[in-house]
Order: sequence, then structure tokens, then C-alpha cells
Amino acid sequence: MAEFEKRDLVSIEDLSTAEILELFHHADEFRANLRAWSEICRGTIMATLFFEPSTRTRLSFESAMLRLGGGVITAADEKNTSRSKGESLADTVRVVGGSYADILVVRHPEDGAARVAARYARVPVINGGDGAHEHPTQTLCDLYTLWKEKGRLEGLEVVLCGDLRYSRTIHSFCYALARFGANIVTMPYPGFELPDYVLHRLRRDFGVQAAAASVADLPGLAGSSNAAAYLTASKPHQLALFTNLTNFEVNRIDAIYMTRAQRERHAGEETKNYPRLTRSTLGAAAAKDARVMHPLPRVDEIDYDVDDDPRSIYFRQAELGVPMRMALMAFLLGKIQLRAGRPSHFSVEPGMVAGAGLRCRNDRCISNNEGVRYLVRDFRLREAENPPVLSCAYCEREVEARFVGDASTQAAYRYSAPDAKRIRAEARVYFESESQATAAGFRCSDAAG
Ligand code: CP
Repeated sequence: MAEFEKRDLVSIEDLSTAEILELFHHADEFRANLRAWSEICRGTIMATLFFEPSTRTRLSFESAMLRLGGGVITAADEKNTSRSKGESLADTVRVVGGSYADILVVRHPEDGAARVAARYARVPVINGGDGAHEHPTQTLCDLYTLWKEKGRLEGLEVVLCGDLRYSRTIHSFCYALARFGANIVTMPYPGFELPDYVLHRLRRDFGVQAAAASVADLPGLAGSSNAAAYLTASKPHQLALFTNLTNFEVNRIDAIYMTRAQRERHAGEETKNYPRLTRSTLGAAAAKDARVMHPLPRVDEIDYDVDDDPRSIYFRQAELGVPMRMALMAFLLGKIQLRAGRPSHFSVEPGMVAGAGLRCRNDRCISNNEGVRYLVRDFRLREAENPPVLSCAYCEREVEARFVGDASTQAAYRYSAPDAKRIRAEARVYFESESQATAAGFRCSDAAG
């Protein structure tokens, strides 16, 4: 295989907006005749490593690679892999992404697992869903389907309904919608709102403003939540003109995205009276031109008699998964080139030893689970002041660092102390608390801050 720069798809942010749009056009070409492309990846092997159940993601990836003329090896049941004997994800992907396969698709129950796989594998890694973190290829399928239906993404009004807290699909979709200039109306099942770290990222990276929303009556949905919110990116479109977005009235909806209760990630939370989309929901005037979306699998949250409504596109989302994933793999394998530039990612301060003092607060993060054995703590500085905010490089959960240490002197200071500001960037070690700094062997006296 020709040498090319390895690229992974761990987060939807790993593709630029222009790259995504170009991939849509390639997906259209593949879709025009799915059987015409069997030379593109001849001799290439894809491995699917699925340590959680899946129907659509795994089988559509396998179908996509077979249609591209490549081969497929799969580990679809962790009980039949050496993970059940205690082998780490890092070792598994080093082996399978060595001489066994040219590209890996990984699904794993722990947040941040896909980033670990991408770091350890020599070949491109695609995130097939990692815990409650992200599911970027589902988002590609969702965006592609919506774009084909509506002819654009900018300015669309998209309602997200149900378990917004644990749905990785929702998290990737939010970032992409904000980036494309769509407006998001969140209608969470109470207690299952978007996590703070997702909201912070929407605000910080896309300038998203949030306002309370009143949504025109959507029977079965609106009654389920008293916490509807309107999220709009402040830059790319006309809503930037609203200076006082205090209670936005939503009277026209372009898409309602339902998601099931992600019970496999719940810690015994009740989901009685979970929202349910019915024919009468679609009878609402605001839903006249709405598309009904769902990543599937559906449990009870969309009535079966909605399936025949022409506005229901959830099976189309699944169908378009094959050409979309063909385009993605052909790109990551260097079989098609894109004219569009790659995204410019947030950068790490050079030489920063930021993570040494911190521990990710997300109990589901791989760094607090199997990664305890081998991962180096790794954080990215996201906000430098008041106080500094860092995010875990694996799962992106944020921590506030109220103390900053100097690795060369082992002295630690409150973040606001003048001495803290004088520490060279490459010597900075961040801590959440004085006790955390002390436990790491730093002196944290009154004199020091
Ligand atoms: N949408 C989705 O990820 O479906 P599967 O869990 O069946 O792969």
C-alpha cells in the first residue's frame, strides 16, 4: 500500500466542514451504483473490533469495505477475544493494526477508548462509538441524510429529544450542527440534559448562545420536558442579530431527532414517561416540514405507525450509512483525495506537563478504567485563566485547575497568585486542589500563594 499520512476519525472534529461536504459528494457517487467500486480497496483489510453490541455500525462498515473490494476480519464478541483474559485495548490494536489489518473500526464501552486506539494503532482508526463520548460516523450519516433531504444544513431548526446526556450520537451531532450553522432545540428527558462539557465546548468553539425556548405544542414530546433550550451559533448566520435571545419561540421545525434511553450506561436512573413520538406529534403545525430522525435501534420512542409517514427518514439514515462509510474509508486509506483542507485543532502548549497533577473526574473514562495500567494522564489547556480549564485528552471531560505548580521547584500556587503567572509554560503542572498538589509532592504554603 502507498505511504500516506495516517488520519483517524475519533471525533467529528477530526474532519473539517469542507471535508465533510466533499465526502457527501463522494458518497453520492458511490451510492449511484454501489456495485461499481470493487477495485478501489482490493487487497485492503478492515478489522472491526466491537466490544459492545452493534447491528448498523459494524455491518454497514463491513458491507462498505466489501463493496470497495476489500476484505474484513471481525471481533464482534469480546467474550471470544483475549480482552476477556485481560488484554488491553492498546495491545489489541497494536497487534490487529499491525500486519492483520489496514484500517480499524473500534466500538468500546469506555469514554475515550477510540483516542487510545488511535494513539496505539499504526493504521487509521475510526471511532464506532466510545462510551457516552462520540459516534462520529453516525453523525456523518445523519448530516448526509438531512443535507440530502433539505438541501442545506445552515439555518435548520433541529430538535434533539430524549436522553441527551448519555447519547454519544447526540454529542457528535451537536458539534456538527453548530459548526454547520444549524440551530439546536434541546428537549431532554428531565435529568438527561446535555452534559456541561458539551455545552461549554459548544460555547467556546462555536460561539453558541443558549436561551430558554418555548416550542409549539408537540404532543408526546413537549409535555415531557420543561427544560427546552435554544442553542444558536453566534457567528455564521442571521440569528447573530438577536441581541436579547431570552426566550426563543420555535414555530417551525426542520428535524426532530429522537434518541432512546441509553440504559446500558445508566446507573439505575428511572425513565418512566420517556418521550414518545406519535402520529399526533407530527400533526403539529410546526412539524409540517419536519423530518423524523433516529440513529436506531428504536425501542419505544417512535410509534411504529409513524414509519410510513414520508417525513420519517430513520431507515434512510441507516441505508445511507453504507455509501457514507465507503467514502470515509476510501479517504482515510488514501484511495480518494479531498481538495478541502484538514481542521486546525486546538494545540497543546509546547512541553506542558499539564496532566501530571490531574485525574480525570469522569469515572467512565478509559484513563480511570483499563487505562489505569498504562495510560499517561493527558490534559489539554482549554481556557488559560479564571481559573484555568483543562480537558481530558481521552474523553474531553473538563476540570478546573485552581492550583498551578512549578515542576522545576516543586512549589505550587493558587492560580490567581502572581507567582503562578510567572511559571514557564513548559514547567506548569495543574492541580484541582491544594491537597492534590500536596499529594503529588508539591509545597503549597501560604507564602507560596
Ligand atoms: N446507530 C447505531 O450505532 O446502531 P448500532 O448500535 O446498531 O450500530
